[in-house]
Parts: sequence; structure tokens; C-alpha cells
Amino acid sequence: MLEIDYSNMMSDVIGEAGLTGEDFDTIEAGARKAHEEISGRKRPGFAFLDLPEQDVSALKEMGGEVREGSRYYLHLGIGGSALGPRTILEALSPFLNYLRSPKVFIYDNVDPCTLENILSLVDLSRTAVNVVTKSGSTAETMASYMVMHEKLGGRTEPFLATTDPEKGYLRKMARDSGMRALPVPPEVGGRYSVLTPVGLLLAEVIGVGADALLAGAREMREHCREADLERNPAYLFGAMLYLMDARKRRNINVMLPYADRLKPLSEWFCQLWAESLGKEGKGSTPYPSLGTTDQHSQLQLWMQGPPDKVITFLRIGDYGTDVPIPRVFEDTGFGYLGGHSLAELITAEEESTELCLAGNGRPNMTITVPVVDAAHLGQLFLFFELATAFAGCLYGVNAFNQPGVEEGKNFTYGMMGREGYGEKRAEVLESRKKKVWKA
Ligand code: PA5
Repeated sequence: MLEIDYSNMMSDVIGEAGLTGEDFDTIEAGARKAHEEISGRKRPGFAFLDLPEQDVSALKEMGGEVREGSRYYLHLGIGGSALGPRTILEALSPFLNYLRSPKVFIYDNVDPCTLENILSLVDLSRTAVNVVTKSGSTAETMASYMVMHEKLGGRTEPFLATTDPEKGYLRKMARDSGMRALPVPPEVGGRYSVLTPVGLLLAEVIGVGADALLAGAREMREHCREADLERNPAYLFGAMLYLMDARKRRNINVMLPYADRLKPLSEWFCQLWAESLGKEGKGSTPYPSLGTTDQHSQLQLWMQGPPDKVITFLRIGDYGTDVPIPRVFEDTGFGYLGGHSLAELITAEEESTELCLAGNGRPNMTITVPVVDAAHLGQLFLFFELATAFAGCLYGVNAFNQPGVEEGKNFTYGMMGREGYGEKRAEVLESRKKKVWKA
């Protein structure tokens, strides 16, 4: 089970930058109300909490078909339809594409160079393509689908669709063409959808299995049932980040895993936190990072820059492997490293960074992940989702919509000539006239 050490968030350890009992008292009523909303599933979006009980038989069958029948697997999707799957792929099967089949590619950003590179590596006659869009209408994903549809000669069999069970263009197209399709539960928001077929099919394709991820999520949910913050780690985490923002003006939160395999997890978390909470002038800014790499890039800023950050370390209890550092170069300045190991070094770096930040009055907390495996990844997903939903209640915002993103989509539709968006196109053209260009 994950463990959180939050002593470096508290005033008795780090001084006035830290939280006190009085800070927690200010949210007592809000936290109680949040718990009522969450445990009573007062908003449809809280449905992500019930995903551990879903029926996974159809996605397992489809995953098996892809695993057995394809040499390449191309996942098309963006935002919540890509970040979770990428997290699963990198955390649980790093370097898969050098080692195993099917080789997996996640294409999200409609960068033409990336697609060209993918196409230069895959044999299209042995490729399965999963079009993943909950709404069934996101321009990036649908454009990629159109390109692949043509490249595959208009055939239906290589394609799967992962989308809303009833609504959207993609669902209709799947129905009309007989394309194989999996449902994304309508009430589960895109960025909360990693434990739906959006992420679970990929888990099956790479042979990890959906069950272990869901079992981990279920276990975490059981540990997060209580209203009391001290007995509910997800609430505690969400509350501390909220309080740091609201009471201490620490409105930047850095997610810092000490494992290359968890770098995409920090990006997934940042989308979850940013898109869920950044509205009505509220929210704090998450930023993805990586230890030890960013000790040599960002740490100076965190230590001595503006006192506006909270750092969350993800410490790895057991890397599952280790590499001894040989006793060579003993009479040089770095002979002291010999006889230790790389896991020892990375862990020492992590602990030292915690300590020096705390010593400088910079709040930080540490989540220990005993091992990076499917069960613990499932725990992490549910933990961060619940923490975010809880923080949404404390901020008093709807953590499940994204009105700011929709507006940008509407301008894009206008620019690309979509029917009904002519006014948006006119607005963009008008705005260009106002721009001042200087040589
Ligand atoms: O969290 C969200 O709802 C968004 O980030 C979506 O995941 C993203 O816009 C992609 O949407 P869709 O899956 O409908 O293509």
C-alpha cells in the first residue's frame, strides 16, 4: 500500500510556511460537506469511484484478439484519452517496443512528423488501430482516424472504437460500419477514464491485465472511505494542496517521481489537477517533473526562488532490480560511489532533496510507492482522482467539466470550416487584424 509522509508540510517541522491545526480547522465544514457529496455520489462525475466493479469481459476478449492477431497497435486519442494509456504503457512495460509484440504507438498530438515516423515503422497490414474519443468528435482524434482510414484502404476490420455507448459521431459510424467498439461510461469524465476501456484495453494488449489495476484501485478506495482527513489519505493530500494554495499562497504544485517509468504519471496527474480545478479564477498550477533529472534543472528555483511551490515526491520502495556500482577508480574523487548501487544513489538523492527543501522552509511531502506494478499503479490512479475531486469540492468548483477547453475547440471548428461555427471563424479572422506584426 502507498504511504504518505507529510511531516514536511507541517509548521512544527518547516516553520511558518507549514500548515497548522488551525489551517485544517478552516476547512472542517467544507471537508464534511465534500465527504457527503462524494460518498453519496451527488455528482455523476464521482462514478469513477465505482469503476473497480465494472465488467471487463468484453475488453479482455478484444485485448486478446489484438495481442494474438496484430504485430502493431496504434492508439489514437488525446487528453484524457491518451495520458492515462501512456502512463500504463510506460510504467508497466517500459521499452516494450524494443522487446515485444504488438508494438504500441500512442498518437495524440496530430504532429505530422510523428505520424510519418510511426508509419515508417509499422506494417499496416498487421496493425490494429484503436480510435479513442469519449465524445466521438474531438478534431485531433477524428482527423487521425480519417488519415488512417484512407491509409488502410477504407477497411473496417483493423479498427476499434472506444467511445460513448450511445452518443457521438464515432459511435454512429461504428454502428453503421460494424466496427468493433467498447464503451466509455458516459458519466466518467475524460481525465478520470484511465480505468475504463480507455486505459484497460491497452493494459490487456500489453499483457498486464485489467484485473490487477482494478484491484489496486479497489484497495485504495477501501482505504479512503472515512470522512476524517487523518484516516483518508486521498482527502488529506487534496486538502493539503488546497490549504497551501488558499492559506499560504503556494499555488504551484510539482509532481516529482523518482522513476523514469512514472514520468507520464506526473503528466497525467497534471492534466487531472489542472483541468479539474482551474476554473472561476481558482485552482493551483501543477507541473510535471522527474527526479533526479530536475535536481539539475529546477531545484535551484524550488529552493531559493519565489516561495510559491509545494513538491510531491514519489519515492520508489523497491525498483525491482538494481545495478551495483563497481569499486573502480578508487583513488579518484568519486571512489566513494563504488560498492553502492544505482537504486541506493537515486534514493539517497531523493531523501537529500526532501531534507534540503524542508531545511529551507519549502513544503514537500513524500508518497512511497512500494513497487511500480499494476496494483500500485491502480492505487495511484484512484488516489489522485479522489484527491482531485475532493479538492474540487473544497474550491467549490465542478471538477468534472472543462468550459475553457470547449471554447478553444469551437474556434478550431470555425477555422476548419465546420458547419454551424461560421461566427467563430469570423471572430478569429477579426482578431488577426488586431495583431501587430513587427519585422
Ligand atoms: O478530461 C477531458 O474531458 C478532456 O481532457 C478529454 O479527455 C479530451 O478533450 C479528449 O476528449 P475525447 O476523449 O472526447 O476525445
